[in-house]
Amino acid sequence: MEHKPVNYGTYLALEKILDAQQPESDKPGNTHAHDEMLFIIIHQAYELWFKQIMTEVDSVKNIMSKPEVNDNAGDLQTIVHRLKRVVTIFQVLVHQVDILETMTAMDFLDFRDLLSPASGFQSWQFKIIEAKLGLRFEKRHGQEYYISQLANREIEMIKSVESEQSVLQLLNGWLERMPAMSDNEAWPVLEPIDQHSFWSAYEEIYYNGLSKGETENAKAFRKIFYGENDSDLQRSLSPKACRSALFIMLYRGYPLMELPFRLMEVLMEIDNQMGSWRFRHINMVRRMIGSRVGTGGSTGAGYLQGAMEKHYIFKELTQLSSFLIDRKRLPALPKSLTEKWGYKL
Ligand code: HEM
Repeated sequence: MEHKPVNYGTYLALEKILDAQQPESDKPGNTHAHDEMLFIIIHQAYELWFKQIMTEVDSVKNIMSKPEVNDNAGDLQTIVHRLKRVVTIFQVLVHQVDILETMTAMDFLDFRDLLSPASGFQSWQFKIIEAKLGLRFEKRHGQEYYISQLANREIEMIKSVESEQSVLQLLNGWLERMPAMSDNEAWPVLEPIDQHSFWSAYEEIYYNGLSKGETENAKAFRKIFYGENDSDLQRSLSPKACRSALFIMLYRGYPLMELPFRLMEVLMEIDNQMGSWRFRHINMVRRMIGSRVGTGGSTGAGYLQGAMEKHYIFKELTQLSSFLIDRKRLPALPKSLTEKWGYKL
């Protein structure tokens, strides 16, 4: 079949895209506001990047949904690679705030009232990204207005994503399947879990290293890794998954643990970048509208501050740092295990 020549402008649908900036201030009866074009283009650029992020996260979710992710072949590498791209996009999104901040509060006031009641709350793509990664409705700050401004079709899309397995849930399943801790040959005692050859030894070393003010950490250890007295139904990572995650963090020096470690790192970095974006957004909001309420009906900067604090999606991974010990005190791993990992010592 003959290949039709591709044209730059048609391929990129430039006609549509470049005709998609329609400032309210240029409409009949209004006064032209110079900075409104910038305001529109910035938001459009964000939404395009959100679309790319969703594409990457969807592909990652597809691979992670396979009954068995191949840790030693391309699967895990592809997951990490694509999530790193998401991180890089978020870094650009954080920096993009600089451009909008060249607009002053007075420049914004030239057209702000014309935008009401439109608001960032109506960015359904942003909410879908949060949901795909793992932010559940129950954990949202400001639930009263989380979908109040959206059209039914958009609410349905978000609800449907919330009913799917999120990256966080898929991570939990993948961590739970990690075989190293249930290897009979390596560990003479596997159960009960606090008697497991590795965990009982590790727990003791960890306790001995705690300072006076850290005694609560001992209880937290048993709750997080053994599920003891765990009435916190809000947790997303199971004790088994947390044990694997900590084990990977501790032994990432082994090449087999390197990619799993990078997967956890890249997820924590996504949280980090999203947090940075929220922080920059809040500062920008304060600078532009001070303590005025948002066009979306929220308290404005106050709401955003709450969302920033509450919406860290992979915080249960980050919190595991409290349970690390220094390298020189790490229990040596059984030879049978390291040999299986390719070490003939
Ligand atoms: C002059 C600049 C901006 C101001 C004053 C501003 C203000 C606000 C305010 C007050 C809210 C809280 C919701 C409300 O009541 O309206 C909000 C939410 C939001 N804004 Fe902005 N914003 C600005 C720029 C941007 C940009 C460039 C983006 C890029 C996409 C953005 C995306 C969002 C999103 C996604 C939310 C929802 C956040 C959440 O639900 O946690 N905003 N914005």
